[in-house]
Amino acid sequence: MKRFDWLESFELRVPEIDGDHRAMLELMKATRAAAAAGNRTKVEHFLDRLFALTQNHFMREETLLLRWGYPDAKTHAMYHQRLLDRAKAVRRACGKIESQEAFEECCEEMMTFLVDDVVRGDLKMKSFLQSNDLTLPD
Ligand SMILES: [Fe+2]
Ligand SMILES: [Fe+2]
Repeated sequence: MKRFDWLESFELRVPEIDGDHRAMLELMKATRAAAAAGNRTKVEHFLDRLFALTQNHFMREETLLLRWGYPDAKTHAMYHQRLLDRAKAVRRACGKIESQEAFEECCEEMMTFLVDDVVRGDLKMKSFLQSNDLTLPD
């Protein structure tokens, strides 16, 4: 699946945010590689790091959005919280799964929630960022 590869279209040209997004995708790819190799201990380790990284990213992003006066900052923070809540619930469920195949599917599901911020959620603020000179010049 190509979903965790970095695409030009994900780039907001806001270095404080893009750097985190790239790191999140890298960890997702590492998680998937460990899952494909059948290394469950490693997968669980990566999933936990990914969750922590995403949680920190959301906090950093919310702080920036408030500072920059993004009008939908509050809605966006609520969206982040929903993603974290869902990912956490799925993460808990994954830990209890025994079959390898079902475990892999569970991991994919958890990552689907976390990647949503990069591939969908944050793209909504692109035009705000651009029109407020918060993006790097082309
Ligand atoms: Fe983000
Ligand atoms: Fe976000």
